[in-house]
Amino acid sequence: MPSQLYRSSLPANLLWLLVLLSPFLVLVTATSLGSQARALLHWKSTLQGGQLLASWNIDSRPCNWTGVACSVTRKGRLVITDVHLPDMSLAGPLDVFNFSALGSLATLNLSCNRLNGTIPPAIATLSQLVTLDLTGNLFVGRIPIEMGSMKGLQFLSLSQNQIMSSVPPSLSNLSGLTHLDLRQNKLRGVIPRELGRLEKLRFLELGDNQLSGSIPPSLGNLTRLYHLALYENQLTGSIPPQLGDLRDLVYFSLSNNSLTGTLFFILGNLTKLQYLFLWRNHLSGFIPLEIGNLIEVSNLDLSSNMLTGHIPSTIGNMSNLNILYLFDNELSGSIPPQIGNLLEITNLSLQMNMLGGHIPFSLCNLTKLQSLFLWKNQLSGSIPHEIGNLLEITDLSLHMNMLGGHIPFSLCNLTKL
Ligand SMILES: *[C@@H]1O[C@H](CO)[C@@H](O)[C@H](O)[C@H]1NC(C)=O
Ligand SMILES: *[C@@H]1O[C@H](CO)[C@@H](O)[C@H](O)[C@H]1NC(C)=O
Ligand SMILES: *[C@@H]1O[C@H](CO)[C@@H](O)[C@H](O)[C@H]1NC(C)=O
Ligand SMILES: *[C@@H]1O[C@H](CO)[C@@H](O)[C@H](O)[C@H]1NC(C)=O
Ligand SMILES: *[C@@H]1O[C@H](CO)[C@@H](O)[C@H](O)[C@H]1NC(C)=O
Ligand SMILES: *[C@@H]1O[C@H](CO)[C@@H](O)[C@H](O)[C@H]1NC(C)=O
Ligand SMILES: *[C@@H]1O[C@H](CO)[C@@H](O)[C@H](O)[C@H]1NC(C)=O
Ligand SMILES: *[C@@H]1O[C@H](CO)[C@@H](O)[C@H](O)[C@H]1NC(C)=O
Ligand SMILES: *[C@@H]1O[C@H](CO)[C@@H](O)[C@H](O)[C@H]1NC(C)=O
Ligand SMILES: *[C@@H]1O[C@H](CO)[C@@H](O)[C@H](O)[C@H]1NC(C)=O
Ligand SMILES: *[C@@H]1O[C@H](CO)[C@@H](O)[C@H](O)[C@H]1NC(C)=O
Ligand SMILES: *[C@@H]1O[C@H](CO)[C@@H](O)[C@H](O)[C@H]1NC(C)=O
Repeated sequence: MPSQLYRSSLPANLLWLLVLLSPFLVLVTATSLGSQARALLHWKSTLQGGQLLASWNIDSRPCNWTGVACSVTRKGRLVITDVHLPDMSLAGPLDVFNFSALGSLATLNLSCNRLNGTIPPAIATLSQLVTLDLTGNLFVGRIPIEMGSMKGLQFLSLSQNQIMSSVPPSLSNLSGLTHLDLRQNKLRGVIPRELGRLEKLRFLELGDNQLSGSIPPSLGNLTRLYHLALYENQLTGSIPPQLGDLRDLVYFSLSNNSLTGTLFFILGNLTKLQYLFLWRNHLSGFIPLEIGNLIEVSNLDLSSNMLTGHIPSTIGNMSNLNILYLFDNELSGSIPPQIGNLLEITNLSLQMNMLGGHIPFSLCNLTKLQSLFLWKNQLSGSIPHEIGNLLEITDLSLHMNMLGGHIPFSLCNLTKL
């Protein structure tokens, strides 16, 4: 007992104080550098593939071990604060990790290993943890509800595992969280509306799971978000207009769900968007004229929906577009000649619609085009001779239209075709 060490040299009144503080003293001894080292060594002994951890042995100071870093506390004690072991071929469970011995950890990065079993609820005892990265392992089971008590967390990624639970609403208590990535698991149930309380969140990834229900309007409160991805789930209902308040959004993907309703929400204020992916849903109605305000967008994919009406001529104002995919909708009218203003465009896919009229000559000014898909529409007239200007093109499909006239000789210039 450490208190016995002190007993002989301390005055009696201090002894009484030590008795009062003894639970605290035990805690202090428990987290000494030696016991922290022993806890890590014990975990290592349960792992396969720990060859890269050769420096981990009881004879050397843990602060010098591979992937381990220490700091000095305010009280002058040396403690382990960082365990950084990404991509180390570590295989085995995490439930033997003695979290209570390592309460001083601020960073735990075990990404891209083969750690398996469940994420132990005891992980929540890491009360100082700021960064937890368990990306790319073989974890199964649930996200522990207890993790909602890790008040210091700013970065949490459990992405690319096989976690099957729902998203616990308790995560909304992580009020300092800026980055939440749960992508590519097997998460079920609804997106908890409580997540709208994570007001510091800048990055929210829930893509490639089995989440259902509708998108909670409360997500519109996350006004600092620059990345919002809910793609490849089973989400239904319409896109809440509140998402139109997310003015800092740069990346926005809701692709491959079963969302209905219109695109009305993009009217106006999402002017920082660079990536807008809404493909493969059941969205209907017109493409709003205001889409032309989104002048930073480089990738726009609205394909495989039920959009009707004309392609708005304002699309010609989106001068940073590289990729424009509007295929597999019910768009009609003619292709607006303003598309010829999109000089940065590399891939243009308008196939499988009901577009009529002629192929606009202006398309032939898009000299960076690599693919041009206009097939299965109702285009008429002839193929413009100037198509021979599209020297970068590798894929060109114009079939299943009503085009007439000759095939222009200039096609022979397209040596990459
Ligand atoms: C975990 O570490 C603490 C502090 O070192 C110790 O008291 C406890 O017995 C350890 N638990 C296990 C299961 O080894
Ligand atoms: C830390 O480890 C490296 C090699 O693993 C060794 O060269 C160095 O002397 C060690 N430093 C201390 C302070 O033990
Ligand atoms: C964890 O480590 C990997 C590999 O070095 C790195 O890419 C990733 O950004 C780290 N995670 C955090 C949260 O820093
Ligand atoms: C976890 O991985 C270890 C090492 O590859 C293996 O021996 C063990 O059977 C695995 N456990 C589970 C539950 O998959
Ligand atoms: C958040 O924490 C408070 C206090 O610990 C608790 O009462 C509440 O149930 C938690 N919220 C959720 C959604 O778990
Ligand atoms: C969050 O959003 C919901 C629904 O949009 C709203 O009712 C609520 O007042 C918002 N909460 C905060 C704290 O802004
Ligand atoms: C769309 O999502 C389903 C699962 O929801 C998946 O099987 C399919 O591969 C996805 N489609 C694409 C093109 O990614
Ligand atoms: C965009 O912001 C303006 C000014 O803040 C506001 O009046 C308008 O209603 C917003 N538009 C949309 C579609 O949310
Ligand atoms: C956007 O495009 C329309 C139609 O092509 C045009 O009349 C308008 O002036 C453009 N707006 C801006 C801000 O460039
Ligand atoms: C194509 O570009 C040239 C100059 O770069 C311009 O004069 C011409 O009007 C453009 N053609 C069309 C059809 O937009
Ligand atoms: C653009 O088209 C080219 C040619 O078909 C293709 O190789 C490339 O992958 C496409 N780019 C994207 C982002 O789809
Ligand atoms: C393309 O081919 C046509 C006819 O063969 C020729 O007159 C023209 O100069 C060529 N244009 C380019 C840009 O090579």
